[in-house]
Amino acid sequence: MASGFFITFEGGEGAGKSTQIERLARRMRAKRYDVLVTREPGGSPGAEAVRHVLLSGAAEPFGPKMEAILFAAARSDHVEQVIRPAVEHGSVVLCDRFVDSSRVYQGVTGGLDPAFMEALEAVAINGMVPDMTLIFDIDPAEGLKRAALRRGADDGPDRFEKETLAVHQRRREAFLAIAKAEPERCVVIDAAADPDAVENVVTEAVFAALENRLPVQRKQTAPA
Ligand code: TYD
Repeated sequence: MASGFFITFEGGEGAGKSTQIERLARRMRAKRYDVLVTREPGGSPGAEAVRHVLLSGAAEPFGPKMEAILFAAARSDHVEQVIRPAVEHGSVVLCDRFVDSSRVYQGVTGGLDPAFMEALEAVAINGMVPDMTLIFDIDPAEGLKRAALRRGADDGPDRFEKETLAVHQRRREAFLAIAKAEPERCVVIDAAADPDAVENVVTEAVFAALENRLPVQRKQTAPA
């Protein structure tokens, strides 16, 4: 079976992930790659239904465990309905946020038990580990400023943006710790550089990884 490539984009708020995903998709399509751009929470009809519940803050009063399970439910649907079929069909999937966001936002700054988070992750992704993860690193003060500009004056910050700078700082450190622990999967991108420079770094890293890729062995525990 043809095997595609699964790339996730992670990092704090306002790091420019979405802009860079669009630019990378354009570059890859110009080289005739079949590219699918998607995002979390969301990306499939079932997961999009859960997205609003999470980002509006409707689930917040029920605690981080409830939110973590909802993110996982959305992720499971997204993986089985969209990501796995596309990768098996040979596409390159570019996904804005994935499991590392849950590890950081719910696990680290939500204070949830690591064993619980691991079990939830295994159920949600069912072997669909990213081939490559780009971690967009930026000083949270700068990132939040950018996120506020992007939102405009009328909209307030969402459930996860609204937390204190200290919380965003802990998230930044947690993403960097993941990159350090899993260097074969993760590449840290300096997201403070200007967008054209970031685009060049991202493009080079991704094309190099695609050229050197090994056939991936994904362990799925149950049929989709
Ligand atoms: P979104 O509006 O998609 O923006 P962005 O990715 O540009 O920040 O917001 C998604 C929010 O949800 C973001 O604050 C991170 C948070 N999130 C989690 O807390 N856990 C998760 O597993 C995911 C995927 C996202």
